Amino acid sequence: MNLILLGPPGAGKGTQAKRLEQRHGIAQISTGDMLRAEVKAGTEIGQQAKAVMESGQLVSDELIIAMLESRIQQPDAARGFILDGFPRTVPQAEALDVMLDRAGMRIDVVIELKVDDAALVDRIAGRFTCGKCGAGYHDSFQKPHVAGTCDVCGNHEFIRRADDRRETVAARLEAYHTQTAPILPHYRAGGRLVTLDGMADVDGVSQEIEAVLARVSAKISR
Ligand code: AP5
Repeated sequence: MNLILLGPPGAGKGTQAKRLEQRHGIAQISTGDMLRAEVKAGTEIGQQAKAVMESGQLVSDELIIAMLESRIQQPDAARGFILDGFPRTVPQAEALDVMLDRAGMRIDVVIELKVDDAALVDRIAGRFTCGKCGAGYHDSFQKPHVAGTCDVCGNHEFIRRADDRRETVAARLEAYHTQTAPILPHYRAGGRLVTLDGMADVDGVSQEIEAVLARVSAKISR
């Protein structure tokens, strides 16, 4: 199954995509993670993207579309994928349709996670991840079971993202409302958009997503 997780920064896309990847063996494709890896490796793409990301703006469509197109051709994507953070603009949504058509693939469902802006700021400002395996945590909502130790790999070092400062979060939310929300009608018109309450706790949102996926796979196998 191929799906898109849509929602503003901090809506829980990454958290839920990781759970889906573990549960269903389908690949999480996060354009944000891919860009951060480029920045860390100091590549040309990373150098172009760094300042844009730290200001809370969107990286150019051209760069992102080329990066995504080569990613969905990797062998692991053939078993299904979860797009996390893509598409984010109308030109990206249109380019995705074209590239999937060309590859004989389709998106089965688009899940929008709806969360209030005030809650998003709190979620992002409290977020941190394991520096070794990337497992995600939150100062209040999702603490490691043993303070200072990653539940997944036992590592003791954690990192916070450079674009998670409160002032940058406002710019990221603005980019979502002006550039990303306009893609919702595209998927609504195609009958593939399902909107879920992303204000529920992490397990509650997972249950809602699983119920949607069960309905979609029953429809596909009919
Ligand atoms: P990206 O990495 O995609 O970031 P984002 O969309 O801003 O989303 P986040 O990763 O911040 O949030 P999330 O929804 O994954 O939430 P999470 O699960 O971590 O993009 C970063 C930048 O890269 C962009 O600003 C842009 O510059 C560039 N970029 C990326 N893709 C691009 C594209 N396609 N085009 C152009 N530019 C692009 O959860 C957040 C926190 O809340 C965590 O601490 C978590 O533990 C907690 N949490 C999660 N769910 C819940 C819940 N239900 N209840 C309580 N807490 C929760």
